Amino acid sequence: MKKVLVLMGGTSEEREVSLKSGQAVVKALQEKGYQVESLDLNPGVLGDIEKIKPDVVFIALHGRNGEDGTVQGYLDLLGIPYTGSGVAASAIGMDKILTKKILCYEGLPTAEFEVIRKRDFNRDSFSENSLIARFGLPIVVKPPTQGSSVGTTIVRDKNDLIAAIEKALVFGDEVLLERFIAGTELTVAIIGNDEPVVLPVIEITAENEYYDYESKYTPGMSSHIIPARIADDSRELIEGLAKKAYQALKCRGFSRIDFILDQNGKPYILENNTIPGMTATSLIPDAARAAGINFPELLEKIIEMAEEK
Ligand SMILES: Nc1ncnc2c1ncn2[C@@H]1O[C@H](COP(=O)(O)OP(=O)(O)O)[C@@H](O)[C@H]1O
Ligand SMILES: [Mg+2]
Repeated sequence: MKKVLVLMGGTSEEREVSLKSGQAVVKALQEKGYQVESLDLNPGVLGDIEKIKPDVVFIALHGRNGEDGTVQGYLDLLGIPYTGSGVAASAIGMDKILTKKILCYEGLPTAEFEVIRKRDFNRDSFSENSLIARFGLPIVVKPPTQGSSVGTTIVRDKNDLIAAIEKALVFGDEVLLERFIAGTELTVAIIGNDEPVVLPVIEITAENEYYDYESKYTPGMSSHIIPARIADDSRELIEGLAKKAYQALKCRGFSRIDFILDQNGKPYILENNTIPGMTATSLIPDAARAAGINFPELLEKIIEMAEEK
């Protein structure tokens, strides 16, 4: 029987979410008859990965030191196959600014944006007016390498802009400012290596003003609507864009790409999640279920793709 090592937890801001993903993955793989071991990843247990000698590692980590290419690089050095994208795609996926730059090069639509570097930012000389003249209000302010909406603010009042930028800069050296796109939130799961398959488009509705941390992880605070309530031509457009973005961003195995479809039917790509949430009620498993693939079967496919890479 194949031995799968599930890596979970870790040290990022998304640790708690990752523990839930990891536990769900362990349970489903045991049901499928795999020999499963798991590790809560921290520097002290790195040596154990080699000792366990897994046939494949299932990476159920989100965020820094897990989703960002670091663990992927370590496993490459050890020569152990792992689920999902490789080093470069993981690192790019973790950085919303790099992702958007590649999307722009490929002619794929993403909200207009600007980047502010910490070393160039001075709250006393900062001019809110030029940004507002360009983007209008609200403006979305994000730390580019966080997930789960951590550190993100939707700024509706000019006087809140500086505080939002400073809040985002706590997480790193850059802040991403984006034009706010009003419309329908969609997310698209894709699975595959060279011939990726797009799963049914999911529409997300949130109880809060946007899909923030609380909406994402509190039962009842958001809902997944499958199939999304959008026109057929929009659906085809979005499926095509998702597949192109998946390939342009060099994803392998699986990923989930977030979109907003504006009121005129124009889609915008927000970001690429190379290790999206993996509990039985997360978005990707819901999309798979709508395509007739249950959660353990989805995990099995992801493992098969890891071995074929
Ligand atoms: N440009 C935007 N316009 C409108 N809403 C946005 C925009 N960017 C982000 N959001 C909202 O913030 C949420 C989180 O943003 P996202 O870029 O997906 O980052 P993450 O999910 O990694 O925190 C989105 O699901 C959406 O609700
Ligand atoms: Mg997102």
